[in-house]
Formats: sequence, C-alpha cells, structure tokens
Amino acid sequence: MDSSNSLFQSSFAELSLQRIPRAKQQSNPLRAWDAADELLLKHLAEQQLPSNGQKLLIINDSFGALSCSLADYRADYCISHWSDSLISQLACKENLDGNHLEDRIDWVDSISSPSGLFDLVLIKVPKSLALLEHQLITLQPHVTEKTLVIAGGMVKYLQKSYQQLFEQYLGNTTTSLAVKKARLIFAGTEKTTQVAQSPYPQQNHYQEIDLHISQHANVFSRDKLDIGTRFMLQQYQQLPSANSIVDLGCGNGILGIMAKRLQPEARVYFIDESYMAVASAQDNYFNALNLDSQQEQDRQQFMVSHCLEQTPLTAIDLILCNPPFHQSNTVGDQIAWQMFQQSFKALNKQGRLWVIGNRHLDYHNKLKRLFANCKTVASNKKFVILEAVKR
Ligand SMILES: C[S@@+](CC[C@H](N)C(=O)[O-])C[C@H]1O[C@@H](n2cnc3c(N)ncnc32)[C@H](O)[C@@H]1O
Repeated sequence: MDSSNSLFQSSFAELSLQRIPRAKQQSNPLRAWDAADELLLKHLAEQQLPSNGQKLLIINDSFGALSCSLADYRADYCISHWSDSLISQLACKENLDGNHLEDRIDWVDSISSPSGLFDLVLIKVPKSLALLEHQLITLQPHVTEKTLVIAGGMVKYLQKSYQQLFEQYLGNTTTSLAVKKARLIFAGTEKTTQVAQSPYPQQNHYQEIDLHISQHANVFSRDKLDIGTRFMLQQYQQLPSANSIVDLGCGNGILGIMAKRLQPEARVYFIDESYMAVASAQDNYFNALNLDSQQEQDRQQFMVSHCLEQTPLTAIDLILCNPPFHQSNTVGDQIAWQMFQQSFKALNKQGRLWVIGNRHLDYHNKLKRLFANCKTVASNKKFVILEAVKR
C-alpha cells in the first residue's frame, strides 16, 4: 500500500497504521483511521490531556489509531481497550508491534466490564445504537463526576438519538463544531440519572421456526429474523448430510442451531469475530437443544475468530455462511472473500460451502474461481444461495 495512506500523524505520534484485512492495492485504499480519530486526538493535545498517572478507557477503537497514538512508552497513564471486535483488538496489537510500541494495554472484550474508575473515557461512536446504549450503561459505575467522557464520530452517522443516550445515561451533553465531517460529543458525568440495568441481552421468540433467541446488543439482526437468513433456512430440506458443520459468521447462531436440529449427530462449530455474537450463539445453542453448557467439549465449539484464522478447524464436511458485506460503516467484500478462501482450506474433499448473498454481490464468480464449480441451490428476487464443492 502507498505509505502516505498508512502514515497517521497527530500531536502524540507519527505512526504507520494498517487495517485488518489489509487494504487492497488500489488507487484510493481505505485508511485505518477517520477524521473523528484525528479530531479526538487534536482536542486532547489542545487540552494537554491525558495527564500522567491517569486511567484511560478507549471504547471501540477501530484499528488502534487512538490506542497506539497514546501508547507512548514515556507516558505513565494506563490504557484499557474495550471492544466487541476481535479484528479491532488484533489490528491494534499489530499496529503497536509495527510501530515498536510496548503492549501495556488492558484488553477487555465486550462481554466483560472494564475494571475500576477512569479519569478519561474516549468513545468512537459505534454503528449500533444498542451497543452504545449497553456500553454507556455498563460504564456508569466506572465514572465519577471528575471523569471526562469524550466521544467522536462522523456527522452522517451521529443522529440525535446518539446524543440523547449520552444525556440519558451520563448527564448534560454538548457537541463540538464539525471538522472534516467529524464531530465530538462531550458528556457530563453528573449522574443525574439512576444507575441503569442494561436491557441486553434481549429475548425474542421466533414463532416461524419455534426458536427462543437471546441476543447481546451488537448482534446482527437483533430484533427480527433476517430475510436472508430466513430464505437460507427455507432451503434446509436440501442441506447435505454432514458429520461436521461450521456456522461461519454465526451472529446469534440460527443457521447452525437449525442445522443441528435437522442433523442431531453432527458436531456444529460457531465462529464470529464479535464476542457478543459468539456468546449469544452459545447461549442459544444450549437453550434450543436443552444441552448442559458445562460440558467442556461442547464449549469448544464456540470460537471468536477472524474468519477461520484463529481456529484449528480442518476436514469439515459443510460450512454455512451468510457473509458480512460491510465492515462497520465501510461496504466491501474483502471479508467474504477471505471467508471463502479459508473455507476452501478447511473443507474435506467433497466438503461443501453454502453461501447466501444479495444477487448483485456476484459471489458466484468468486466461488467458481476458487472451487472451479458453483451451483445455485435457490434464488429469489433479492437473494441467491450457492453451493461450492471441494473436489
Ligand atoms: C450477515 S451476518 C450473518 C449472521 C448469521 N449467520 C445470520 O445468518 O443471521 C454476518 C456475520 O459475520 C460476522 N463477521 C463479520 N466479519 C467477520 C470476520 N472477519 N470473521 C468472522 N465473522 C465475521 C458478523 O459479526 C455477523 O455476525
């Protein structure tokens, strides 16, 4: 990649930052930061923050622009990094390493709460309002009246409802002027509101498939059955029989759970890069099948992984995949392509990959290039379900 596209400069540091997956060689490759990161760091530098000895919490730092900039070995403040995304954690760690910065960060996943009280909290406003709500509620016992909470986001995604959440759970809120289409939100921490209980995970009952579903805040299609997922389930009478099945990008786990209902002897693995997705899939699996979640062997079926990279899976008979077509707010098929490539490697000879996608995404050509075959299992106006066999 052109180095000018990885060079990130702020008053704190000059860094080379990469995304995961790495940006493609193209005329305008995607950067590992946005104008909201720049604005947050500019504001901190102007205010001479953080001060030495302070405790910092950084929430939803996409690829480490904030954490790496503040990770100077000369500073003696403590940083906690709190995120639902394994990709964000991995990118931040790689960027620390790539810039010869020591990893002294406390890594906290979204299922856990950060520990202790914080002096300064920096939030990259997430795409999901529900995730922000859960994070602000969970944050309440970790801030005092003296804590500074500063959030940053791109104006086009910051609807009024985002600011209202800060008011509701933290206190009076003001905003900055927009700079390069980014804006800051300054949240007071008067704690005028009572400490709230997070409404997540939420419970739903999907009548059409008779499934009780529990979903953490950041899980795909949280309050209804996704129409693509539904169309995939409608084709399950054609599902090839398999001893081992992977639900890749499992979300709440519906695809894998329904496959297990049809093929009770199969061992089903659930993979997602979101901690909340894997936790939801695990709860739903044990509830739906009335299994004992204490069995260590069963728990090994649930893995937080970037595609299949962090898993030991090989010799799989069937992979079910409803791939993401965006990464946070960025649309693209890089992750889908990586899922297909790693599925090809993980499958048995004669193993099958089932993919559902919007018709226009042209997964057919990609699968054909990789597997040298691809057939349409079903299609409607919006979706196509494809099967590729490893020969
Ligand atoms: C379109 S949703 C499908 C969810 C679920 N399988 C369904 O059909 O309802 C795509 C899922 O892929 C997950 N995902 C995105 N990037 C990923 C990656 N790099 N590795 C693993 N999972 C990923 C998302 O968190 C999301 O749960």
